[in-house]
Amino acid sequence: MLVTTNDMLRKAVEGHYAVAQFNINNLEWTKSILLACEEKKAPVILGVSMGAGKYMTGYKTVVAMVNAMVDSLGITVPVCLHLDHGDYDACLACIEAGFSSVMFDGSHLPIEENIAKTKELVALCHEKGISIEAEVGAIGGEEDGIIGRGECADPAQCKLIADLGVDLLAAGIGNIHGIYPANWEGLSFETLEAVKALTGDMPLVLHGGSGIPDEMVRKAITMGVAKVNVNTECQLSFAAATREYIEAGKDRQGKGYDPRKLLAPGAEAIKQTCREKIDLFGSAGKA
Ligand code: 13P
Repeated sequence: MLVTTNDMLRKAVEGHYAVAQFNINNLEWTKSILLACEEKKAPVILGVSMGAGKYMTGYKTVVAMVNAMVDSLGITVPVCLHLDHGDYDACLACIEAGFSSVMFDGSHLPIEENIAKTKELVALCHEKGISIEAEVGAIGGEEDGIIGRGECADPAQCKLIADLGVDLLAAGIGNIHGIYPANWEGLSFETLEAVKALTGDMPLVLHGGSGIPDEMVRKAITMGVAKVNVNTECQLSFAAATREYIEAGKDRQGKGYDPRKLLAPGAEAIKQTCREKIDLFGSAGKA
């Protein structure tokens, strides 16, 4: 059965480690992530962006696939299915489809509107027993062009949103999605410290977990980050392993073109990335 983030993140805050959110893109991704987390006995949050949901033909397909896979693989670790960066309508659709958690990303809206919509969704989610993540301070991405640092959230605004009863909070602390530019200035620990001071035990979320130096990730976790989101690193390791297979001409040997063979090295590479992240975040054995 899918679970909310509540229990796993409360334990993470108390135990000073972070639970991984790995984003899923298809069946292979889901299978690799679930198997790696089971092997590591680590709780996991499967993130689904609106684009990935559409790619997989809709949220209902995702819910059916994840539920069935948890069952058929005999997964025993806690698994949360979480909408990543949803707009208002996507949150409603995921609540309806059977997700156990959603993220409402109102960070690009005026703060009053972010507050009003977050408040409405908090009530709806809690009525249904679903956890909800909110965001303050937009987390940029590589498509925004060359940036030295992502946005830093206003700690007072974080407190306003935290007080609405959200279960977890993403605050921009200079992090960005995708590959970090060479001139990136690093995480703003001053912002993290200020946000933590005002939000207490609220589990904080670090987006853009790919490519942040390990030391910075460890420090952020000691300062209150209880969930780290990873997507790009799984994509990069999958792509590199698949490229290697094809460049070695293996798809032309025997039945090497069979997708079950062609996608196998990439699937194994995703597992390895997951294992490394789980070790870095300290969530191994915490299921
Ligand atoms: P990366 O793709 O940079 O790992 O970010 C993932 C993320 O934050 C999803 O919300």
